[in-house]
Amino acid sequence: MSETASDPLAEILAGLPNTRAVIDSVLAVWPEHAAYLAKSLQARTPAMLAATEAAATAVRRLTAGNEATVAADYRWTCDRLREEELFFHREERYRLSTFAEAMAEVYSDHAYMARYVNGLLLTQVLWFNHVATFEMFLNRVLGAQTQPFDYLEVGPGHGLMVYFAAASSLSRSLEAWDVSAVSLRETAAALDKMGVEKPVSLTEVDILKAGQSERRYDLIVISEVLEHLERPEQALRFLTTALKPDGRIFVNVPLNSPSPDHIYLLSSPDEVTALVEGVGLKVETMELYATQAKKLESALRNRITVSAGLVARRA
Ligand SMILES: C[S@@+](CC[C@H](N)C(=O)[O-])C[C@H]1O[C@@H](n2cnc3c(N)ncnc32)[C@H](O)[C@@H]1O
Repeated sequence: MSETASDPLAEILAGLPNTRAVIDSVLAVWPEHAAYLAKSLQARTPAMLAATEAAATAVRRLTAGNEATVAADYRWTCDRLREEELFFHREERYRLSTFAEAMAEVYSDHAYMARYVNGLLLTQVLWFNHVATFEMFLNRVLGAQTQPFDYLEVGPGHGLMVYFAAASSLSRSLEAWDVSAVSLRETAAALDKMGVEKPVSLTEVDILKAGQSERRYDLIVISEVLEHLERPEQALRFLTTALKPDGRIFVNVPLNSPSPDHIYLLSSPDEVTALVEGVGLKVETMELYATQAKKLESALRNRITVSAGLVARRA
C-alpha cells in the first residue's frame, strides 16, 4: 500500500511540517479523531492551508516541550464542548447567561482554565471555522492595510493575532486589552515565546467599563470575545468611539456555539449585523464559515456552529 493510501492526510500535509506535527501530537492521544481532522483539512483552500501552517508554526513554539499535555487538553476541551452541545440542543440556549456564573464555574478555576486555554489554542490549527476566519484576518484584514496602522485588540488570549499584527511591517503601535490579569500574563508570555520584537502594550481593561477612549486606532480586533459578554453592544459602542474616522474593526464571533463560558447567544448572521450596525458601524464584508465546512444554510437551520468574521467602519 502506498503511503498516501494508508494516510489520507499525507498529500494535503506535504509541505506543511508544523501542521503535520500538531496533528500527529493529537492523533497520538486521540486516534479516533482522525476522520474529523481529515474532513476539516480536506475542506481547506490553499490560502487556508497556508494560514493553517502559519498558525501551526506559532503554536509549536508556544507548546514546545509540552506537546503531549496540550494534545490531551485539546481532547478534554472537546469533551467539555460536547457536554455543552447536548445541553444547547436540548434547551436551545447557552447553559450560563451571566459573567458571575462564568467566573464561578470557569474563570476562577485555574486548573480548568489551564486545560481549556491549551485546548482552544490547538483549535486554531485543527478546526475549519477557526482557520477560515484566521485566514480572513491575515489576508483580508491585515493584508488590506496599505498605510502604517495603530492596532488595538480586545481579549488577545493566545496572542496569535497580535503576533501577526506585529509581524506586519506597517504596524506602527500595538495595544491589547483584557479584563483578566492572568490572561494578559499568558499573552505576554506567548508573545515572548513567539519572539515578538515590537513593543506591545498590554493593559487590564474591562471593555464594559471603559470610559472615553484616549486614543484612536486604525485597526481594532475583537475576536471570540463578544459571546463572553453580558452586553456586547456596549463593548462595540465603546470601540466605535475608539476608531479613527477611516479606521476598521474586525469582529469574529461564533453563532450557536455552546461553550462552558459563552453567555451571549447569537443565532443568525442578521442578528450579528443588527448588533454591529446598532452602535453606529456599517458592515463592509461578512464571511461565514460553518464547523467542518458544512453547508451554511443547513448549519444555520440546525443550529450548528458558524463563525462570522466581519469588517466594519463607522457609519
Ligand atoms: C476566548 S478568549 C479570545 C482569544 C482570542 N482573541 C481568539 O480569537 O481566540 C476571550 C478573551 O476575552 C477576555 N474578556 C472577557 N471579557 C472581557 C471584558 N469584559 N473586557 C475585556 N476582555 C474580556 C477574556 O479574558 C479572554 O482573554
